Amino acid sequence: MTNYVPNPQIAILDTGGQYCHMIARKVRELGVYAEVFPSGTAANLLAGRKGLIISGGPASVYEAGSPGVDLAIFSSGQAVLGICYGQQLMARALGGTVRKGAKGEYGLAVLETTAEAGPLFRDADGKQQIWMSHRDSVSTVPGGFEVTGRTNTCETAAIADAARRLYGVQFHPEVAHTRHGRQILSNFLFDICGCTPDWDPKHRIPLVQQQILDVVGDRNVFFFVSGGVDSTVAYSLCLKALGKDRVRGTYVDTGLMREGETKFVQGLFESLGSEGFHVEDASSEFLTALHEVRDPEKKRHIIGEQFVHVQDRILKQLDGHWILGQGTIYPDTIESGGSAKADLIKTHHNRVAGIQKLIDEKRIVEPLALFYKDEVREIGRELGLPAEFLDRHPFPGPGLAIRCLCSSVALDLERLDEGWLIPVKSVGVQGDSRTYKPILAITGENLHQRAIDLTNAMEQVNRVVSVTGSNYPVEKLSVQPSAITPLRLDRLRTADAIVRRICLESDFEKRVWQFPVVLIPVGTAAAPDSIVLRPVDSVDGMTAESVAMDPAILARLTAEILSVPGIASVFYDLTHKPPGTIEWE
Ligand code: XMP
Repeated sequence: MTNYVPNPQIAILDTGGQYCHMIARKVRELGVYAEVFPSGTAANLLAGRKGLIISGGPASVYEAGSPGVDLAIFSSGQAVLGICYGQQLMARALGGTVRKGAKGEYGLAVLETTAEAGPLFRDADGKQQIWMSHRDSVSTVPGGFEVTGRTNTCETAAIADAARRLYGVQFHPEVAHTRHGRQILSNFLFDICGCTPDWDPKHRIPLVQQQILDVVGDRNVFFFVSGGVDSTVAYSLCLKALGKDRVRGTYVDTGLMREGETKFVQGLFESLGSEGFHVEDASSEFLTALHEVRDPEKKRHIIGEQFVHVQDRILKQLDGHWILGQGTIYPDTIESGGSAKADLIKTHHNRVAGIQKLIDEKRIVEPLALFYKDEVREIGRELGLPAEFLDRHPFPGPGLAIRCLCSSVALDLERLDEGWLIPVKSVGVQGDSRTYKPILAITGENLHQRAIDLTNAMEQVNRVVSVTGSNYPVEKLSVQPSAITPLRLDRLRTADAIVRRICLESDFEKRVWQFPVVLIPVGTAAAPDSIVLRPVDSVDGMTAESVAMDPAILARLTAEILSVPGIASVFYDLTHKPPGTIEWE
């Protein structure tokens, strides 16, 4: 990977999972470039940094082979911040103890700092909302340390040895849902470590262009453009670096697009003045390949490989040497297990085997691979792309396929004390690892809080939905055998278009970061499917909060969706990320 800044002031020690990159992103947002290292990196290789951050990860310090750090970092004189697992690692290494948790604590909690919370909590002290994701916690603090913050389930939510400049927090300051997380990290960087700002994505554009020229050489670049922010910004950067004769963009109609999308993208690329733009209809190939596929990872692999086939076909018809350009951004590589120890949560379609081969053969250019979504938008703004386009909600590369859930068999719902267990599985992320579990449907009051409590308490589910409306009593619903078919995709597209129209009209669109609409095979023989609404707020898609909707708008939406032929019920996803992911598959 290109080292953009020669002497990063902050080193982040990766103990597994995605958190190290979320920290890197937050640090960058604060204007400081941070470099990620494997946690066990020798202290002498980290010398010269102003501070070290040990990330949180999915391991337990008691597991054999769990990630460790070189103990010499604690006596190097560098400031250290241990987060979650990083705090536990630090506490144990310095003589404290860590207790194995019986049950996890995932999601929002309230931190109360002590009277002398110290420099880490400057302008961030008192009672505050934080984000937790852990099982173990520090039970005795090492000598020299004091407890600086507690929650009602964690006695050691923050610890510090100010004299040695060693700090630990059990919660995650790097996620958006920790109210003062940004201030806490800023205190660490600027007050404790003494960093000076050295990173601004806008200033990186000339460097990225140079990188494109270096990688591409005398070859040309072929892009799959989706109309999404990432691929369009990456395409525009290549256009700027190489000129319009050397860049081609193909929009593939996979049959998995939203209503009206093809026309929108055509218009967008016309407005960019792109001459090498084409639409390729490959819908029958994609749908045939996916027909009997129900496993989410299989879907992702098949879609990725179909794109490679389309590319091969198109490139055979072109003269000269062409390589593939992709709008891959940093988080895409992380959630696909791109970093050393990250658990595989989901394979992104631009990281399947066929693409990996191109990467190995150096036949790919990914100008945005080191940037985060908000940085990509900033670069897009700097390139002059229209604001209404840059503010579009993200849409996943595999399209509606991963929002169209299928079951090979018929199954009954199960009545539990807590609600209805729906045996349709969706993907989640808990303790930084992938889960694939059934859903719980609930009704009544106080839904969002109950959803948090239920996903914490019930091992067997990773998602909780409420029932917002139904053409049938819930006890009449069952899971229907189903596949990805044009009919079901049409149902989903129709419901999705209703949601988008009402959200635009009511301005709800601006209140959410993304609003996936999901089709699940739950219904009756006459109406075999249901729709799940999944509005979320997020900053970067790596964590997310389920957003409540105005009851009047929700009622209108529900009524319209329930009138779509084949739809039995409408559900509302109450789950945050973690423990759910944004997309269901
Ligand atoms: P999850 O479901 O992992 O989604 O919480 C996080 C963000 O990533 C988007 N997403 C994808 N984007 N290719 C993409 O380009 C993919 O395979 C893919 N899967 C998820 C998702 O829409 C959300 O914004």
